[in-house]
Amino acid sequence: MASYFRSAALVLQVACTVQLVNQYGFEVTWCFGPSMLPTLNMTGDIVIFERLTQRFSKLQTGDLVVATSPEDPSKYVCKRVIGLAGDKVCIDPVSMHRQYITVPPGHYWLTGDNLSNSLDSRQYGPVSGGLILGRVFARLWPNPKWLDNGLEEIVEFG
Ligand SMILES: *[C@@H]1O[C@H](CO)[C@@H](O)[C@H](O)[C@H]1NC(C)=O
Ligand SMILES: *[C@@H]1O[C@H](CO)[C@@H](O)[C@H](O)[C@H]1NC(C)=O
Repeated sequence: MASYFRSAALVLQVACTVQLVNQYGFEVTWCFGPSMLPTLNMTGDIVIFERLTQRFSKLQTGDLVVATSPEDPSKYVCKRVIGLAGDKVCIDPVSMHRQYITVPPGHYWLTGDNLSNSLDSRQYGPVSGGLILGRVFARLWPNPKWLDNGLEEIVEFG
């Protein structure tokens, strides 16, 4: 732990940056649990998200988002957008029995990256856009890193 924050000046600088980003509508939150492996760590990652994309343009398939949990409003979830309103998505891509659903207007289909260990739209169905808090674009700690749209990453390597 000590190696991450060696100096008080650095801690203050980080706090100051967080203050700055809050002013611009960015927020910092903590995502943990196995559902976003391997993108995010099980032990917890501090990520930064913005509300601008959903307000001024639109979320896209592959975006990583933070949303209020449809099952428990006191919690939030970190998931990936798999389907937009009007998209026909496979309810459970790992099941032998393929069933499809069309995402209703104003909703998103969200799943974790780790399909074998994630509670997501496959259980609670399409998520209302009103529950989406913002689009995650970077991890602050540990290993600071830009988190690009997952779809672009696949295209790059494909
Ligand atoms: C999914 O989560 C489990 C832990 O619950 C982990 O063992 C497994 O490696 C994860 N899968 C991926 C692809 O990271
Ligand atoms: C996940 O966390 C563990 C323990 O904190 C660490 O050893 C590992 O490198 C981390 N993995 C990633 C991908 O950040």
